[in-house]
Amino acid sequence: MSKLWGGRFAGGLDPFFEAFNRSLPFDRRMVDEDLVGSAAWARALGRAGVLTAAEVKKLEKALATLRKRVAADPGLCERAADEDVHSFVERELGELVGTLAKKLHTGRSRNDQVATDLRLWMKRCVGDLDLAMAGLQRALVALAAKTSDLPVPGYTHLQRAQPVTAGHHALAYAEMLDRDRGRVADALRRMDRSPLGCGALAGTAFPVDRKALAEDLGFGGPTRNSLDTVSDRDHVAEVLFACSLTMVHLSRLAEDWIFLGTFESRLVRFADAVATGSSLMPQKKNPDALELIRGKCGRIAGHLQALLMTMKGLPLAYDKDLQEDKEGLFDALDQTTACVRVMTTVVETTEYDVERCRAAAATGYLNATDLADLLVLAGVPFRDAHERVGIAVRTAIEHGCELEDLPTDVLTDLMPEIPAASLRRELSVERVLARRKVFGGTAPSRVRAEVKAWQKRLPEAEPKKRGRR
Ligand code: ARG
Repeated sequence: MSKLWGGRFAGGLDPFFEAFNRSLPFDRRMVDEDLVGSAAWARALGRAGVLTAAEVKKLEKALATLRKRVAADPGLCERAADEDVHSFVERELGELVGTLAKKLHTGRSRNDQVATDLRLWMKRCVGDLDLAMAGLQRALVALAAKTSDLPVPGYTHLQRAQPVTAGHHALAYAEMLDRDRGRVADALRRMDRSPLGCGALAGTAFPVDRKALAEDLGFGGPTRNSLDTVSDRDHVAEVLFACSLTMVHLSRLAEDWIFLGTFESRLVRFADAVATGSSLMPQKKNPDALELIRGKCGRIAGHLQALLMTMKGLPLAYDKDLQEDKEGLFDALDQTTACVRVMTTVVETTEYDVERCRAAAATGYLNATDLADLLVLAGVPFRDAHERVGIAVRTAIEHGCELEDLPTDVLTDLMPEIPAASLRRELSVERVLARRKVFGGTAPSRVRAEVKAWQKRLPEAEPKKRGRR
C-alpha cells in the first residue's frame, strides 16, 4: 500500500510494525467527517486562490460520490489496507479524479485534519448519549410518579436509617443524570472550535480564511493557537470524564437495586427481560443487567486514566501517542450509551414489592429521629431527647418490638411529655414521611411537586437517534 509520505523513504516498512502503526481499523468511524472536512478544505483552498473554482467543484463532487459509496458499503473502508482514514480518502479520491486528488492536501496536515475529524465526530455522536440519558431520566421520573408515596427503608452505612419514598430515591438519580448531561453539554461547547488551517503545528502558509472555514464546518469559530490545537485532546478527556462519572452514577443505582433485590431484602423484583439464570442452579435469577453496568464502570474509568497518562508529559505539538486517543473514546461512548439504554429498560421494568417495602420501612426503628423531634417540640433539648430515645430503642430491642409497640405504661414512663396515643400516631411511617416536606425532602407531596417540575423540564417525545455512527 503506497504511503502519503513515501518519498523520503528508500526501504519498506516492517510488516508487523506496519500493522501496529495502522489506525484505519478504528479511525474509519470518522470517514464521514474526513470527507466533509475535506470538502470544506477544498472550498477554503478555492477561496484562498490555491484551487480554481472548477477544481473545487470537481473535488466536491467526487467527495460527495465517495460519501455515498461509503454510506452504502461500509465494507469499502473495512476491506481497505490504507494506513489511516485520511490515506483511505485520498487514495479513493485519486481513483475518482486522478491527479487533482493530489492537490487537496495543500497546506493541510493529518495533524489538523484528525483533530478536526475527531471534534466533528464527537459533536455528532455525543448527542446519542445525551438522548439516551434524557430517556433514562424520563423513565426515572415515570417511576417516581408511580412510587411518590411508597415508603422504603433509607440507608446510611447500609444500616436502616430513616424511611424515604421510592420516588425520592428514583429522582436522586435523575438529578445525577442532569449534572452528567450538563457536563456533556459543557464539553460540547468547549470543543466547538475548528482546528483546520493549523497545519502540522505552525499554521498553514496559504491565505486561508479560518473563520469562514470554521463556519462552513458548523463550528462556532476557529481555535486560536496552532501548537495547542494539534496536540489538544482536552475535549476527549472531558467526554471520558463525563462518561466515567455517568457510569459511576449508574453503578450506584445498580448496586442499590442489586441489594434491594437480594433474597434477604426482596424489596424489588427484576423483570425476566433483564435477568438471566444459572447453567447449574435451576432456581437462580440473577440481576446480570445491573451487574454488567456496575462492572463496565471500571473499564470506562480506565479509558479516562489511559488518556490522561498518554497526555502527561507529551511535548508540543503533535506526537503519534495521540493516535491512542480514539479507541478508548469510541468504546467509552459506545458502552456508556449502551449502559444508559439497558438501565432505562431496567428502570421501566423493575417492580417494588409494595407490602414488603411498607413493612421494611416500618421496622428497625427508622422513626427514632422523629421520636426525638417530637420530644423537642414538647420542649426537651435535642441532646437530652436523643439520649432518652436511645434508651427507648434499647428498651424496645429488649421487648422485641418497635418503639410505637411498647406497652403503654412503658411508653408513658419513657416519654411522659406526650400521650402514648398521639406518639403512636405521629410515629407511623406515613407521618414520618409527610413531615419531610422541606424543599429537597422525601415527603410524598414534595416528590409529586418534583415529578411535575421534571415533567415540564424533560420534553416528552424526542427522536430516537440524533447522530449516526
Ligand atoms: N492516525 C493518526 C492519528 O490518529 C493521524 C495523524 C497522523 N499524523 C502524523 N503526523 N503521523 O493521530
